Amino acid sequence: MQRDDEKLVEYFANPPEDISLGDVDLDRLPSHISVIMDGNGRWATRQGKERGEGHVAGIKSLRETITASVRLGIDVLSAYAFSTENWKRPQHEVDLLMHLFATTLVKELPLFHQENVRLVFLGDIEALPAQTREVFEQGLSETANHTGMTLALAVNYGARAELSRAARLLSERVLAGEISPEQIDQDAVSSSLYTAGLPDPALLIRTSGELRLSNFLLWQLAYSEFYVTDTLWPDFSRWELLRAIRSFQGRDRRFGGVIAK
Ligand code: FPP
Repeated sequence: MQRDDEKLVEYFANPPEDISLGDVDLDRLPSHISVIMDGNGRWATRQGKERGEGHVAGIKSLRETITASVRLGIDVLSAYAFSTENWKRPQHEVDLLMHLFATTLVKELPLFHQENVRLVFLGDIEALPAQTREVFEQGLSETANHTGMTLALAVNYGARAELSRAARLLSERVLAGEISPEQIDQDAVSSSLYTAGLPDPALLIRTSGELRLSNFLLWQLAYSEFYVTDTLWPDFSRWELLRAIRSFQGRDRRFGGVIAK
């Protein structure tokens, strides 16, 4: 991905004591970074605020993570915004999130144009309330030809639902005589997922200290490196992103093999 070095250095000016741009190898960045944005509710509760204020604060962190990733030249950033299980939350919180998604997207579209960001969605967005769905579809079509970073927002996403859907899509193709069962291999499954065409995440970041996947990208995360931080999502910043990348670059990725000496 193209990178503007001048803008990059400016964006990461005034670092905290423990991390700076110089601590990461810009030639070995993860091509796809994925984030489970967790802890908005706890962040709000700890400050005596409504949970909704945590989600509003979380949008700022997402914006900063998008900009930082663009500056670094990351190819794909994916973020888990709403799961197939999140419908179980109180109705007023679901309504607020759906409203926030729509208003945020309208507000951020100029940023996506300015930074050449292509937006895609992971999940069943057909099932979203009309206003949210329409804004999402507008975002999709308006950014479809952008050639910079791909931002994949997981909304109404669940990995088990995604894999069941892939099985359905593939069996329909078999029934239509387009492919034979023998042709259903790993590439065929990958191409039937919402992430078709995107590289698998090299790095998964989860905030708020929880050590679980919560039905996120179960297939795609098979060989990803995990970085879990206690930082709550509204406190996540460009510096925490650099810490995650530094940690990632310190790992040996063997993909089940041995390290070549
Ligand atoms: C998890 O925190 C966060 C969410 C369920 C929502 C995340 C959404 C955003 C940050 C806005 C994204 C914006 C767009 C346009 C997609 P939580 O509520 O589970 O926190 P808790 O675990 O502390 O309760």
